[in-house]
Amino acid sequence: MTFKKHILCIGAGYVGGPTMAMIAYKCPHYKVTVVDINPTRIAEWNSDDLPIYEPGLDKIVKSTRGKNLFFSTEIERGIKEAEIIFVSVNTPVKTFGAGAGMAADLQYWEKTARQILKCSESSKIIVEKSTFPVRTAFAMERILSLTENDIHFDVLSNPEFLAEGTGIKDLEYPDRVLIGSRETPSCVKARDELIEIYSNWVPKDHIITSNIWSSELSKLVANAFLAQRISSINSFTAFCEKSEADITEVARAIGMDSRLGNKFLSPSVGWGGSCFKKDILNLVYLCRHYGLDEVANYWEAVVSINEYQKERFVLNMLSAMFNTLAGKKICLLGFAFKADTGDTRESPAIFIARKLIEEKAELLITDPRALNNAKIDLNGIDGKISYIEDPYEASDGCDAIAVMTEWEIYKSLDFEKIYRSMVKPAFIFDGRNMLNHKRLFDIGFNVFPIGKPSLTHF
Ligand code: UDX
Ligand code: UDX
Repeated sequence: MTFKKHILCIGAGYVGGPTMAMIAYKCPHYKVTVVDINPTRIAEWNSDDLPIYEPGLDKIVKSTRGKNLFFSTEIERGIKEAEIIFVSVNTPVKTFGAGAGMAADLQYWEKTARQILKCSESSKIIVEKSTFPVRTAFAMERILSLTENDIHFDVLSNPEFLAEGTGIKDLEYPDRVLIGSRETPSCVKARDELIEIYSNWVPKDHIITSNIWSSELSKLVANAFLAQRISSINSFTAFCEKSEADITEVARAIGMDSRLGNKFLSPSVGWGGSCFKKDILNLVYLCRHYGLDEVANYWEAVVSINEYQKERFVLNMLSAMFNTLAGKKICLLGFAFKADTGDTRESPAIFIARKLIEEKAELLITDPRALNNAKIDLNGIDGKISYIEDPYEASDGCDAIAVMTEWEIYKSLDFEKIYRSMVKPAFIFDGRNMLNHKRLFDIGFNVFPIGKPSLTHF
């Protein structure tokens, strides 16, 4: 079959894989190839057991793979063949040198840009899909302009706004698709080509354009606003626990104000995920770079409140359980950073687990999808940790349960059975406020929700 276009994506991660699968699914007339330097990851994409869990992903990968969707390690060949290249490699926080702990580590990105330059035999459109610091596209253009023949590259910014767990729905029905470009005739033509791809399934009025810097910045600002909203509600959970206010009632009351809206107001043990912290710290670094210290401090506080929330959770456990956790068995119900994903990057559960181990507690960790990642995250920690698929087995004989992830299945657990199997007094710390607290209390548990009065039998 001859394809109308050849699309390549470099980086087969949480963003690159699902995004390309959706393009292939919606555009059977395009050939979509996803390449990665990691052969194991590519082998998994080509197997029945995909490297990431995302509801609905299996179906679209299986219906397109081998037809117009291909996963490969042949990066050079992929570059040569493609007319459009999406770059979706990771941009972790720098761990060394200037900006360590805050700035983005751009080494993979630059390597990728140079590889594109080296292997290209024809002009191409390059699409920044990864979240980069503002003005990265400019640097990308500079590198790609080092070409010695008459090959030409147009660089576009097209940030991805999908959230894990709802990634397929977010890709199929995006709130908006944002494309940033320069206004040169060649860039405008490139932008139109990208618009044409998305127009295969996204309504035209949901595809918006902007200048390239606004597009890059919008992604960082969107994540900063989202995280800020959770840090805001979480900051008031601390307040509610000191007073007699109930955070659920407060969230309902403010969420009915149409100016505020009712989404993203669920209090939690803390937000996690690969993006929020990295992107905010990146923004903070950029602000400081531009001498905007007040702005930097303002956004840095969003991260500080999140650290405080996680610390608070452990301190609350400690104080409720008579100021000692040594030798006590604690079941962590969930480990993923949110429900419906196996991803544990920056999961609050990692911090909580480490702190509980420091207190010499014994951990029994259960999660329907994230146990493999949990084992990697906690590898080498000196303490007693077991990883158990079955939540009943994990909580058997425990002193306390701490809910880390809001998996729907946890709502329908038989808590009477669990209570009977636990050491008394039995404690539940609901880090997601997802369980029926009154019922748990009636069963006999001492219940500690977030941002509302605890229910105790003593
Ligand atoms: C990544 C970025 O981390 C994020 O900033 C951006 O918004 C989207 O892309 P994600 O897809 O979640 O997010 O990252 P990850 O799952 O780590 O995938 C990146 C992939 O790129 C990995 O599979 C890695 O092997 C690959 N990679 C990395 C390359 O193929 N080449 C490289 O030089 C570096
Ligand atoms: C986020 C952005 O939502 C997405 O647009 C961007 O592309 C990538 O970063 P993601 O991190 O996958 O997506 O998930 P998200 O649903 O935003 O949740 C992030 C964290 O916030 C999770 O730990 C989640 O549990 C937590 N959260 C979310 C809350 O604690 N309360 C809420 O009300 C919502």
